[in-house]
Amino acid sequence: MPDPMPPFHRIEDLPPLAGQSVTTRGWVMTTRSSGKIGFVTLRDGTGYLQVVLSKKDVPEAAWDAFGRLTQETSLEVSGMVRADARAPGGVELTASDVKVIGPSVDFPITPKEHGTAFLFEHRHLWLRSRRQVAIARVRDEVVQAIRDFFYERHFVLVDTPILTGAIGEAAGHLFATEYFDLGTAYLAQTGQLYVEAAAAALGKVYCFGPTFRAEKSKTRRHLTEFWMVEPEVAWNDSDANMQLQEEFVCHIVSRCLERRRAELAELERDVKPLEAVRSPFPRISYTDAVAKLTALGSAIEWGRDLGGEDETLLAKQYDRPVMVFNYPKAVKAFYMKENPADPRTVLNNDMLAPEGYGEIIGGSQREDDYDKLLARIRAEQLPEDAYSWYLDLRKYGTFVHAGFGLGVERTVAWICGIAHIREAIAFPRTLYKLWPFVPQPVQVSQTGTPEIDSALLGEPFDRLEAARELGVRPLQRRARIDGQLARQVDDRK
Ligand code: 4AD
Ligand code: MG
Repeated sequence: MPDPMPPFHRIEDLPPLAGQSVTTRGWVMTTRSSGKIGFVTLRDGTGYLQVVLSKKDVPEAAWDAFGRLTQETSLEVSGMVRADARAPGGVELTASDVKVIGPSVDFPITPKEHGTAFLFEHRHLWLRSRRQVAIARVRDEVVQAIRDFFYERHFVLVDTPILTGAIGEAAGHLFATEYFDLGTAYLAQTGQLYVEAAAAALGKVYCFGPTFRAEKSKTRRHLTEFWMVEPEVAWNDSDANMQLQEEFVCHIVSRCLERRRAELAELERDVKPLEAVRSPFPRISYTDAVAKLTALGSAIEWGRDLGGEDETLLAKQYDRPVMVFNYPKAVKAFYMKENPADPRTVLNNDMLAPEGYGEIIGGSQREDDYDKLLARIRAEQLPEDAYSWYLDLRKYGTFVHAGFGLGVERTVAWICGIAHIREAIAFPRTLYKLWPFVPQPVQVSQTGTPEIDSALLGEPFDRLEAARELGVRPLQRRARIDGQLARQVDDRK
């Protein structure tokens, strides 16, 4: 048996230990020295710590080690915790010894400015930066706030399948895979159809997991894999559904304001717009929204879905999230309940976040009439067999029910105030991003057009299409490398 690791403290645990001798571990961010005094800024994920070394007070080996420290070297430091009002967390460490655990030579991400494309190629290392650590902690708080909200309201978590046999949202946006002798399976676009079944068993339920959309969207609001939380409530109608969404979003935002102030400050997030997120949220019908948008100069016509620009324009009119309800049936999913007062529309709503973050929630009352649902399935030419179990829910004790889906990354991006949703998840999957990094970035000489080269490197996405049209396919090269690796693995079997 190897020796157990000696006891040590995490940086977050140090503030109450002023005056005590401790050992801590972490990674070097920066060093500086003024003659015989050295300073190291250490991070360990739980916090940041200034370590002060005095040449005369540490062993020679420790002083030598300090002289050779480079960014991201991992260290063990022993010393005395000292109160210092100027230090983060109110303490610093006066070192008595320093041991290098793992050196780090030429860490690629230096304190200078790097382009987004470069940073995404080094996503596995970029995660260590102060900004990315702050975003990860806000995301964690959002996820915990979601779970607590539903747990405290006695909802039951029901995990729904990722490999599914039925289409959830839109037939065109499916990732498909062969499934043994049973034909095609699809990666779940939503867990909704399954939580509807569970709602008849448990009353108030939710699912929370990754969902997949093979959308060729290159906007800053779209990922191909994103996390969605989907509550479903028996006996809620569309109004009750909107009420629940409002309470839910207020809960998430106020939890982040309460517990993640330091991270929001690190991100230089202006928290005033978040502090304005209080009940009641404005509600506007789709029809009124179209009239309002037209008056504001949009070319939208009744019957079309709201585009990203319309959403931003509309959301700008309010200081808190706005709910747009009762969209035209033709632009929405088959399962939404027809509006008895105007059958051209459905009893649904979207919630649009302020500050241009767009739709964070899509929800609806569900069609609970067997015949109407079957007619919609037929009209949309969906495979009827695949939905027989879903129709059963309307055959055996049908019930008024409603639910919604909130996208975690869009919510995190909005709360953090970051420009692009891809920073809101550790390893984003987008139309052009399947690996944590690109081993051979495209060289400027590849296309001879710097604009296209920079687009190929990932920024901004909308120029990629142009590059593709010119026949530049950097990802194919990566696919070839992966193919070779896969064959090598097969050969070893
Ligand atoms: O509006 P959507 O497509 O609704 C559903 O999937 C319903 N089945 C939900 C339900 O009623 N149970 O998606 C819901 C939310 C969106 O408002 C958005 O926040 C997020 O999921 N979302 C995406 N996030 C990132 N990338 C994408 N490609 C997304 N598509 C949807
Ligand atoms: Mg939607």
